[in-house]
Amino acid sequence: MTTYSSLSDLGLDKYSLRSLHTFAMPVKASNIIWAENIEQILIARQQSEQKNEPFLLLGEGSNVLFLTDFAGTVVFNRLRGITIEEGKQDWFIHAAAGENWHNLVCYLLEKGIKGLENLALIPGCAGSAPIQNIGAYGVEFKDVCNYVDIVNLKNGQQQRLLNAECQFSYRDSIFKHKYHKDYAITAIGLRLTKLWQPKICYGDLKSLDHSIITAQAIFDSVCKIRRSKLPDPKLLGNAGSFFKNPIVSANTAKELLKAYPDAPCYNQSNGTVKLAAGWLIEQCQLKGYAIGDAAVHEQQSLILINRGNASPDDIVALARHICSTVSYHFSINLEPEVRFIGAQGECNITEVLL
Ligand code: FAD
Ligand code: EPU
Repeated sequence: MTTYSSLSDLGLDKYSLRSLHTFAMPVKASNIIWAENIEQILIARQQSEQKNEPFLLLGEGSNVLFLTDFAGTVVFNRLRGITIEEGKQDWFIHAAAGENWHNLVCYLLEKGIKGLENLALIPGCAGSAPIQNIGAYGVEFKDVCNYVDIVNLKNGQQQRLLNAECQFSYRDSIFKHKYHKDYAITAIGLRLTKLWQPKICYGDLKSLDHSIITAQAIFDSVCKIRRSKLPDPKLLGNAGSFFKNPIVSANTAKELLKAYPDAPCYNQSNGTVKLAAGWLIEQCQLKGYAIGDAAVHEQQSLILINRGNASPDDIVALARHICSTVSYHFSINLEPEVRFIGAQGECNITEVLL
């Protein structure tokens, strides 16, 4: 477990969370711990309960907005270890929750194990991937997930959930609901077929030649596209897409297309239609719009950035303005994808944005 003294040795403020999450908000925690095994997570949680203080488990902090200082212990999950088993038709991978997702993608690709290339460069830990069912360029975590291992933080009981039990859907899973507050994800299991087929149906990848395409070429293209559109959190604080893409009825989409024939619309299997929140925001002339140092990213309107000294209030005010403007112009409600963390723990986003 990394201790306070080692942080001080590095010249860092031992309570500051600023460099420990990608939005880089100027906030602190009462206590910060890096847990390298399940026992350490359980002890930290128990100690928080004894002190009647809040407890927050994070991976790499790439999908959170701290609204203020956190009044308790933040535990960074650093459980490590990857094992690979070869089956007849599939590769079976077990990765501890604290492994970095992108490193896992690269590690497997180097070994000739394909299937994660579309999900390259998504920040965060492997164990966080199931929570919002990470997705990009036509692939979602649910497409490669075999199982998710969790531990009950109250009694230490461990459990394995198979893919079908995880209730995966667009940016959602059972880990945001039933297995949220009192559970930690400790590992994930992936199943990657040896009969690999390229997935290049997503807009930006469509131009690749299906007959000669390799997993490495898809990986390279995805990395190139992402680097051209998405701000690097090391240089510009952000948490990826701030809002989810709204899913509307076929009728709503039809009305939108009447007025805006070029509006991006993606038909879903259940008859609903996914719209592009970034497009809606751009249509409202909000690209580049700023409140203090919080701004709508110039290359991708779905991303809110911290230009340096944005406060949580600036980001919330900007998000509120975007929601009300999009609602006024299109009668469509945007819902944040980013998780809002207050002094005592996760907050109800709707209440914060009211
Ligand atoms: P954190 O931000 O640390 O945590 C997120 C939530 O999960 C918190 O509520 C936390 O309490 C909880 N949590 C974390 N670890 C555990 C655990 N072990 N057990 C239980 N709960 C836990 N997402 C996509 O889906 N697709 C993208 O293309 C994408 N691109 C991005 C690009 C950028 C530049 C950025 C900054 C983010 C992007 N994201 C994307 C969002 C983000 O990368 C994912 O949501 C990622 O899975 C978050 O991982 P994390 O470890 O940083 O989670
Ligand atoms: N668009 C605009 N203006 C913008 C942004 C987008 O017109 O400012 C249009 C694009 O031209 C395109 C459509 O909207 O026609 C979709 O844009 P893009 O392909 O960039 O994807 P997105 O819908 O904005 C989603 C995910 C990303 C993921 C990409 C690629 C959500 C909320 N976001 O973004 O995930 O990387 O697709 O698959 O679903 C994240 O979740 O944090 C994230 C970055």
